[in-house]
Amino acid sequence: MKKLFLMVISAATILSSCCKTAENQTVEQKNETLESILNRRSIRAYTAEPVSDGALDTIINAAINAPSARNLQPWQVRVIKNSALIAAIEEGVIALKKAENPNLEPRSFFFNAPVLIVVANDKSNFFGQLDCGWLGQNILLAAQSMGLGTCVVANGNYFLNSEAAKPVMEKLQISENYEVIYSIALGHPNESPEAKPRDKTKVLIIE
Ligand SMILES: Cc1cc2nc3c(=O)[nH]c(=O)nc-3n(C[C@H](O)[C@H](O)[C@H](O)COP(=O)(O)O)c2cc1C
Repeated sequence: MKKLFLMVISAATILSSCCKTAENQTVEQKNETLESILNRRSIRAYTAEPVSDGALDTIINAAINAPSARNLQPWQVRVIKNSALIAAIEEGVIALKKAENPNLEPRSFFFNAPVLIVVANDKSNFFGQLDCGWLGQNILLAAQSMGLGTCVVANGNYFLNSEAAKPVMEKLQISENYEVIYSIALGHPNESPEAKPRDKTKVLIIE
């Protein structure tokens, strides 16, 4: 009787540990892709080290391999390495912001990143904005996987889509029917911020 009891207990222990493992597998599974996703943070401080052309090429290749509806690739992507041009865009942003709020504290909207990637979407494409989003996430994750930091910046849009930015937009060769949807600051990170909280209750599993 005692033997049978022990057998039942050990079988139950084995079973419960099997179930726990299966349950935890999804949570604990680790690979480089998941690490890039989970370790990415918005980086708002960069070192002065430039991003190599090879690294930029890898990131651009990752970006354009994003999915898009009917593979129409409704984006124009401009990778700006020219610090004077980045500064000119930033000055435009500051001028606009100051017009709205004269007491604006001076700050860097692109965090002195050595590279600014400007993404514009085809306004005539129904999925344009969405497709530019997939492209952007590829940029963020590719950069993260290479030890580089990024921050999506919407603040540039207000200036870049304004009349005042026409000469800059010509320099960037962004077509009339495209509008800037976001920019991405890119460079070598000079900070390691904590993860921001995420709300898992926004996701429901319906059995
Ligand atoms: C569309 C979009 C626009 C954003 N614009 C800005 C911005 O103008 N300035 C900024 O500092 N961060 C900006 N962010 C970064 C968000 O604040 C950041 O992603 C969010 O707080 C979550 O933090 P995490 O990226 O570190 O996970 C933007 C992010 C997205 C997706």
